[in-house]
Amino acid sequence: MLSTPILLDYQSSTPCIEDVVISMAPYWSEIFSNPSSKSNLAGINASAILEASREKIQECLFLQKKKVIFTSGATESNNLALLGCARNYYKETEKYGHIITLKTEHKAVLEPLNKLRKEGFNVTEIRPEKDGLVSEEKFISCIKDDTFLVSIMMANNEIGVIQPIENISKICKSRGITFHSDFAQCLGYVELKDLLSNVNMITMSSHKIYGPKGIGLLLIDEEINLEPLIVGGGQEYGLRSGTLPLPLVVGFAKAIEIAVLNQKKNAEKLLFYRNNLLEGLLENNSGLLINGSIKKRLPHNLNLTVLDLNGAKFHKLLKSKIICSSGSACSNGEPSHVLLAIGRSFKEAESSIRLSIGLSTSSKDIQQAIQILTNTIKLLR
Ligand SMILES: Cc1ncc(COP(=O)(O)O)c(C=O)c1O
Repeated sequence: MLSTPILLDYQSSTPCIEDVVISMAPYWSEIFSNPSSKSNLAGINASAILEASREKIQECLFLQKKKVIFTSGATESNNLALLGCARNYYKETEKYGHIITLKTEHKAVLEPLNKLRKEGFNVTEIRPEKDGLVSEEKFISCIKDDTFLVSIMMANNEIGVIQPIENISKICKSRGITFHSDFAQCLGYVELKDLLSNVNMITMSSHKIYGPKGIGLLLIDEEINLEPLIVGGGQEYGLRSGTLPLPLVVGFAKAIEIAVLNQKKNAEKLLFYRNNLLEGLLENNSGLLINGSIKKRLPHNLNLTVLDLNGAKFHKLLKSKIICSSGSACSNGEPSHVLLAIGRSFKEAESSIRLSIGLSTSSKDIQQAIQILTNTIKLLR
């Protein structure tokens, strides 16, 4: 009989936890009015719930001074932040200025920036160091007189490395450059409290933190002006028109509350399992390369290159036994641009694996995963 594969792909998405599901329940069919219909009592009630969720998120993140703009997820938030900021810059200055990012950003950042490049903006993609981290000196040397926007993610979705956001945000602030950061992978896994205030635009996604899919947010400083991507009824400060999905908003706010509350405890547990997995694999196998800094890294991420085997066969054999990722969930089967950017060859990138641990991963899962991976590697070599 086939046993269920072990799930080690929690960076792609997480299940909605019970408390979140419960929190959403009244808003599907009992309290269902349109929060924008403020001319009737039911709409006013729905609007109050929407605003209470917004305030709850600001409080949980200690960001009362930032605006919360709800979106459909991190992809839309990144698009709004980058396209919106650059197009507004052009509107105000009639100039195509300079933007800085990293080669290892998620495609949801790189693709909007490619669009801006085609529109006339000048975009620099910095190659991080071999450990996946951006060098601050290199970053400073890339800043030009007309740099107006920087987008550098907090934690990488493939190799889990945590960038020096605190310093980068301070450098940007001192030079009057707007700083955007994609936080989709780090909320609930690392302590964020003191990091957030200097970041002018922050992207977050609900389905990475045990909340519902289809909702995300962009936090922006009050004084940031963006050109909206979606126009219509003028919801979300005129930056994102459309009726908001109240159950998802409520569920997302609950997921953020729980993620922040349990961050330390969860991170300790995940780190313990991640280290067990790494130690077990290193003890039993030679020729494993760790991709990205192991010290400055998300607690639940492991990304390894397995040398001396055929990557395609490796992933094919693992498919029915371990649910994991050969790159990012959004990479359409191409070899990872992140691994190539940190110096892995095409072949090495193909024989790499991202294992990401979740809150329901057990010690048994870890031991079995070590066994399965070790047997598969032996078989292929
Ligand atoms: C760093 C990062 N940014 C953006 C996204 C896209 O997020 P969403 O699925 O919420 O659009 C992901 C999803 O994997 C991600 O990891």
